[in-house]
Amino acid sequence: MGTTPNPNQPLRLGILLSGRGSNFLAIARNIREGKLPNVEIAVVISNVADAPGLSAAKDLGLPTALYVSKARPRADHDADLISCLRDYNVDLVCLAGYMRLLSPGFIAAFPNRILNIHPSLLPAFPGLDAQQQAFDYGVKVAGCTVHFVDEHLDHGAIILQRAIPVLESDDAHSLSERILVEEHIAYTEAVSRVAGGEYEIQGRRYIKRATA
Ligand code: GRF
Repeated sequence: MGTTPNPNQPLRLGILLSGRGSNFLAIARNIREGKLPNVEIAVVISNVADAPGLSAAKDLGLPTALYVSKARPRADHDADLISCLRDYNVDLVCLAGYMRLLSPGFIAAFPNRILNIHPSLLPAFPGLDAQQQAFDYGVKVAGCTVHFVDEHLDHGAIILQRAIPVLESDDAHSLSERILVEEHIAYTEAVSRVAGGEYEIQGRRYIKRATA
């Protein structure tokens, strides 16, 4: 089932990140520029103290939280995240370079309410260094995927993908940079689709509901 958007209440995003935060910043910019009407960032949470994305969120004046995950049991760390996200009345959790697997308890706490972006055309090249994996494999088309998060790595129902050709002149670095440009478009588009609520998830398939 899709979300049931309330036109009077903005959809509140909880962003989880561990690093640079360029996908978060693209979403924040698109909200500021009016490209995601009725969506707001409720809180930006990092599990890494010196994540540049966390300081960028502070610079933007957004609410932030830090829960260092290193050496903590996954379930304990995730329980802190769940209560923080609930405190901020988060409707939709967006993983934006969040480099830690979520516990089953976390996924159950936000059923079909967690999105992730992955820099490959899934199901090809899940896991780390997806762009390098794709380059080394010699694919001719690469891209990114925004999907719902389930209990398996880089696996849930796909909302959208954006593809680009791999150029003769590419190396893994230039390919990653060109995929990142697509990521910044794709994540906002996926949030917009989910915020619109006109969809169903049938098995693995994300299906846009026909509008009358
Ligand atoms: C992106 O490539 C994203 O697809 C992957 O992690 C990277 C995060 O980059 N999940 P950024 O922190 O959003 O710049």
